[in-house]
Amino acid sequence: MVDGVKRKVLMHADRNGFLYTLDRTNGKLIAANPYVKVNWAERIDLTTARPVETDVAKRLRAGEKVEVKPRWTGGKNWMPMAFNPNTGRLYLAMLEETSVYQLNKELPVYKAGERYMGVENTTAPRTPGEPWGYFGALDPLTARPKWKLPLMDLPSWSGMLATAGGLVFSGRSTGEFVAIDEDTGSIVWQFKTGSGINAADHLHAQGPAVRQRALGARRRDLGEEGNRGQSASRWIGLDVCPDARLNRAKIILTAWLLALAQPASAQDPFKPEQVKSGSETYARHCAPCHGPRMADPEGAPDLRKFPRDQRERFLTSVSKGKNSMPPWGDLLKADEIEALWAYVATGGRN
Ligand code: HEC
Repeated sequence: MVDGVKRKVLMHADRNGFLYTLDRTNGKLIAANPYVKVNWAERIDLTTARPVETDVAKRLRAGEKVEVKPRWTGGKNWMPMAFNPNTGRLYLAMLEETSVYQLNKELPVYKAGERYMGVENTTAPRTPGEPWGYFGALDPLTARPKWKLPLMDLPSWSGMLATAGGLVFSGRSTGEFVAIDEDTGSIVWQFKTGSGINAADHLHAQGPAVRQRALGARRRDLGEEGNRGQSASRWIGLDVCPDARLNRAKIILTAWLLALAQPASAQDPFKPEQVKSGSETYARHCAPCHGPRMADPEGAPDLRKFPRDQRERFLTSVSKGKNSMPPWGDLLKADEIEALWAYVATGGRN
């Protein structure tokens, strides 16, 4: 609703720090307001949709070293935000960081495979006690928060999920999957998953007859050089019943009981023994070409990059061989090759 009129809109929290609402039928800008700290522009001109820059942007162009808020990672990055039509609010994870930029006086020489930016780009040191960002509920037209929940340990790179049950869900980089009261911003329940969450939470119905829904969050371990961002993704599923007709206490209780009954690791499709036996077979037969623990392969593909959804291809290529890779089907039993898949698909974790 814009000025009491129902409009077809598009809402976008840009990396540049402004929250835009457009008329999606004609692209006209309705509102654009800062939702995090912004120092490079004063405002967005609603008639031209162009930013009105501050002297920070001007000094940067003039070659000075300047601090720019938000950082290049944005006030929000890829993480999906959620809109709840019942409250008219947007729910999202916001980032509050500061870049330090200085344009290079001369354009650097282009080297293939290396970053080519033409700007010195670092991050300003953090002020102790300042949050890294917030979970928040914003008015899309003013960007004013109904509430903001400060994130003191790390920023959140997780999406937000709104439900009809009065709760929004998200994840923290410190590993907690959280249920937040959409009205007050207080955490009403959380579940420690054991690794940082930086993916979108989502709901999916499990068939019309079963009025139960699964709520999943993809989690990805932080750290561990080499495996970062490739092999450590897992889905965790928590069964909750965010049905508007159930009261909140029941939702929380169901989620809590199921979380207790089923630790996240129990839901991984591979058993630790299987991964372990796969790792032993790997070390014996595959490491010479594909590299110890899949790192530093010599003349063979990097198996950490092998697509996780192509189990059949893995089994076939390994048992029948592929081009210069010898077939292993005669030497290894089917369950040994299956264990190799468990090892490769989990990136050697478990
Ligand atoms: C003698 C070196 C060598 C050994 C040992 C070896 N591989 Fe390979 N592997 C290769 C080469 C080379 C390729 C690339 C083949 C191509 O696509 O041309 C390859 C490709 C693969 C692929 C990708 C196949 C595809 O469909 O693209 C997988 C999976 C694989 N190897 C798994 C294994 C496993 C598991 C083992 C241990 C049982 C193993 N490899 C042992 C050399 C080796």
